Amino acid sequence: MFSLVAIAIVLAPSPIVDAVQYEPNWDSLDSRPLPSWYDEGKIGIFIHWGVFSVPSFSSEWFWYHWQGAKQWPSVIEFMKKNYPPNWTYADFAEQFDPPTGIYDPHHWADIFNASGARYVVQVTKHHEGFTSWPSNYSFNWNAQDVGPHRDLVGDLAVAVRRYPNLRYGIYHSLFEWFNPVYLEDKKNKYKTQNFVFNKSLPELYELVNTYKPDVIWSDGCPGKDTYWNSTHFLAWLYNESPVKDTVVTNDRWGRNVVCKHGGFLTCTDQFNPGTLQKRKFENAMKLDYSSWGYRRDMKLSDVIPIQNLLRKIATTISCNGNILINVGPTKDGTIAPIFEERLRQMGSWLQVNGEAVYKSRPWTFQNDTVTPGVWYTQRTNETTTSNKNVYAFVFDWPAVTLVLGSPVPSSTTQVTLLGYKRQFKFSQRSGGGMIINIPAIPYKKIPCDWLWVFKITNPQN
Ligand SMILES: *[C@@H]1O[C@H](CO)[C@@H](O)[C@H](O)[C@H]1NC(C)=O
Ligand SMILES: *[C@@H]1O[C@H](CO)[C@@H](O)[C@H](O)[C@H]1NC(C)=O
Ligand SMILES: *[C@@H]1O[C@H](CO)[C@@H](O)[C@H](O)[C@H]1NC(C)=O
Ligand SMILES: *[C@@H]1O[C@H](CO)[C@@H](O)[C@H](O)[C@H]1NC(C)=O
Ligand SMILES: *[C@@H]1O[C@H](CO)[C@@H](O)[C@H](O)[C@H]1NC(C)=O
Ligand SMILES: *[C@@H]1O[C@H](CO)[C@@H](O)[C@H](O)[C@H]1NC(C)=O
Ligand SMILES: *[C@@H]1O[C@H](CO)[C@@H](O)[C@H](O)[C@H]1NC(C)=O
Repeated sequence: MFSLVAIAIVLAPSPIVDAVQYEPNWDSLDSRPLPSWYDEGKIGIFIHWGVFSVPSFSSEWFWYHWQGAKQWPSVIEFMKKNYPPNWTYADFAEQFDPPTGIYDPHHWADIFNASGARYVVQVTKHHEGFTSWPSNYSFNWNAQDVGPHRDLVGDLAVAVRRYPNLRYGIYHSLFEWFNPVYLEDKKNKYKTQNFVFNKSLPELYELVNTYKPDVIWSDGCPGKDTYWNSTHFLAWLYNESPVKDTVVTNDRWGRNVVCKHGGFLTCTDQFNPGTLQKRKFENAMKLDYSSWGYRRDMKLSDVIPIQNLLRKIATTISCNGNILINVGPTKDGTIAPIFEERLRQMGSWLQVNGEAVYKSRPWTFQNDTVTPGVWYTQRTNETTTSNKNVYAFVFDWPAVTLVLGSPVPSSTTQVTLLGYKRQFKFSQRSGGGMIINIPAIPYKKIPCDWLWVFKITNPQN
């Protein structure tokens, strides 16, 4: 009887635990732990798709480089040669018409799933101000009223969520290059907030309530956090929103808080510091070296080779980062085969080596102390919690021996190569570390030989 009561008490749902309430200040907001799915997932896909995908030349900054403060001669020349003189940027929106039968968000999601990524972040509004969802706050400058005549955000959110491995997130630019209400606030030295209260915040609330994104990737934040009312929005997001338990955010919530406050830090684009970071960061990078949006002037040599992509993944996650890999779809809603190939190659490599990536943590050493081009992660064996594995990501295939200065082998250490499995002989290295003998392995025995991962079980350190 007694024991039954005891069990009943233990098994009863815990009484209402006071949920942590976050306050609209950075000390409080920064104290929120990131939901664990984010760190565990490591890899996301970034999608830049908007009206800029129509001229599809130079970059997603096309409008600004054509008619903004810093004009680019190449862009002006392009317009002169290819469009009538009375052409406006808004005219491009009419041609943003991904045809049914060609554009298929489910096909995109299939590629993203096959890539091994764990989340997708879609640009829902870039600095051009065009909303890819039927926003109530973007009259006649949204994907329902012009161009596609459909909800591109809803389309992709649904498609992505059909894959249990994938989460859906949104990118949203706070400012808009040419919005007169924004420009008026700016002229007032950000002392008025008409744009914030009438445009950027209503859009954010609308996006969160309608699409329930698990990532909010804020961007475009000249003006301070106080101008954007960022801490108030985030306090609502973390305390009350429908995604309060799952959402992660970045750090671009005001020009004074980038790289300091928020969820994960993005600092600069392509942030890949090469040293251990205390705070979780994200390396947002792109498959096309010079543009986030698709551009027809892209050359094969502008596209990152798979080896380099995998190296970036290794260096990033070794230092406590996630990586967000950008793809720019065409205006027709297709993903260029060269991008699809890169993503599927990454997926096939992760099929072999994902054990060293997902759910891994940075190790004591990020890169090897002796051999350049060797980066580390660690992971505890979940079935036998006492067992720690260290993974060495090796950029160049080692001939005869692999000399590692960092891991100190123990009496139970074993060395294997992911995708190959056979154990490798090794010896202690005088001066610390270990020397692994590399037998002549038949080339065909190692799948996806773009970057190799050696698994070292139970090192002393
Ligand atoms: C541009 O001007 C031409 C005549 O020069 C006219 O036929 C055309 O409709 C105009 N296009 C736009 C988008 O205003
Ligand atoms: C998603 O990708 C994984 C490989 O990472 C594959 O095993 C799985 O079948 C895919 N899911 C679907 C629904 O295609
Ligand atoms: C836009 O406004 C209409 C009318 O007030 C409302 O019915 C609709 O739900 C709103 N849309 C969104 C996405 O909030
Ligand atoms: C902001 O919205 C309110 C209510 O819709 C409107 O009265 C006001 O004129 C708007 N302000 C600006 C600067 O657009
Ligand atoms: C904006 O910030 C003020 C305090 O500065 C706060 O009272 C208000 O509720 C915030 N508004 C929104 C929409 O977040
Ligand atoms: C790798 O490690 C060494 C120290 O062992 C360090 O000097 C070097 O800067 C590190 N980073 C890179 C990117 O090689
Ligand atoms: C975890 O340990 C078990 C038992 O030693 C082993 O069979 C399994 O392969 C290990 N898993 C990993 C990911 O190392």
